[in-house]
Amino acid sequence: MARIFARCWCFVAHESEIPEPGDYVLRYIGQDQFIVVRDEDGQIHVLFNKCTHRGSTVCRVEKGNSSHFRCPYHSWVFKNTGEWSGAPYRKKAYKKLDAGSWGLASAPHVDSVHGLVFASLDPDAPTLDEYLGEMRWYLDVLLGLNDTGMTTIGEPHRWRVPANWKSGAENFMADAYHVPSLHRSAEDVGMFPRIETGGAGPQGVSRHVYFEHGHGMIVNNGFLPPPWHTSGYPPEIADTFQLDRLTPLQRQFVDNHSATTFLIFPNFGLVRVPAAPHPDAPPAVFTQLRQWQPVGPDGITNWNWTLGWKTAPEGLNEEAYVAGLSMHGPAGILEQDDTVVWGGAPQAGKSVFARKSGMR
Ligand code: FES
Ligand SMILES: [Fe+2]
Repeated sequence: MARIFARCWCFVAHESEIPEPGDYVLRYIGQDQFIVVRDEDGQIHVLFNKCTHRGSTVCRVEKGNSSHFRCPYHSWVFKNTGEWSGAPYRKKAYKKLDAGSWGLASAPHVDSVHGLVFASLDPDAPTLDEYLGEMRWYLDVLLGLNDTGMTTIGEPHRWRVPANWKSGAENFMADAYHVPSLHRSAEDVGMFPRIETGGAGPQGVSRHVYFEHGHGMIVNNGFLPPPWHTSGYPPEIADTFQLDRLTPLQRQFVDNHSATTFLIFPNFGLVRVPAAPHPDAPPAVFTQLRQWQPVGPDGITNWNWTLGWKTAPEGLNEEAYVAGLSMHGPAGILEQDDTVVWGGAPQAGKSVFARKSGMR
């Protein structure tokens, strides 16, 4: 927790979840809970959700809108900037209280890119742009296709998985190898044609791309037959993209790739894949944000947000939402495969015999 989660830039929310002044959501960095809140001037703060008085949890509601937060224990009140605002019987109880030093602790760095809000708990962290490095080029081609951008659809799904967070992180950046074997049943039942092309098998067309700071991605153009255009989006959506803002190389990427997963280290991922929302329906390209939040060494809370283009005509984002659920929702066919197998690693890690026999 200290060496990774308290040092890196961690994803905390999508801007569209907190569009108005006072909007907030509760989120985690590592195992610490934070209030991600937009203040009255529109600035986003990431406040540690523990009272500076006796450490009680200040905000107990998953999301809402408030100019202030009041701790339930003794009713200390904080502004949505985190500043200390008041306490009952202040004059009697705290004659010399220095209000300036009792505000909620907050993440020293908060920044966003294409609607993704990140925070770092390390005062000496590099800027978000430096941290992302070349990954930024791919964020532009995935999320920056027009000025209006993407928005979350509905609430994030959350579910518990008995596995270690690193299995999810690695799976999204560096493991196309598992696709033709673990996910074979998706082809067998007719949900995912040509699963072989998704992996490292003889017809595999997946590529792994690695960046500095631990980020990486898998790109693929083989799931569906050509002709490819605009990442597999139908013209109704593709026509709303401002592709002239991209470089020729970025344009080439958009034209030729539809299936992408990535990891922004340590635990934030994205999956974009075309999938059929209903039997015999044409594939809809879905985009999901994924976060594997550690709950000890052998537990994850999976967080899953579906994104849609704000410019998409009515109904198309909903089709993509259903397609995404069928693949990578809590009961998605691919998600079930993945989460079942990840559980073995922490069990092996705890095994006496594994240690004794030198298994690594
Ligand atoms: S613990 Fe929060 S007001 Fe006392
Ligand atoms: Fe998988």
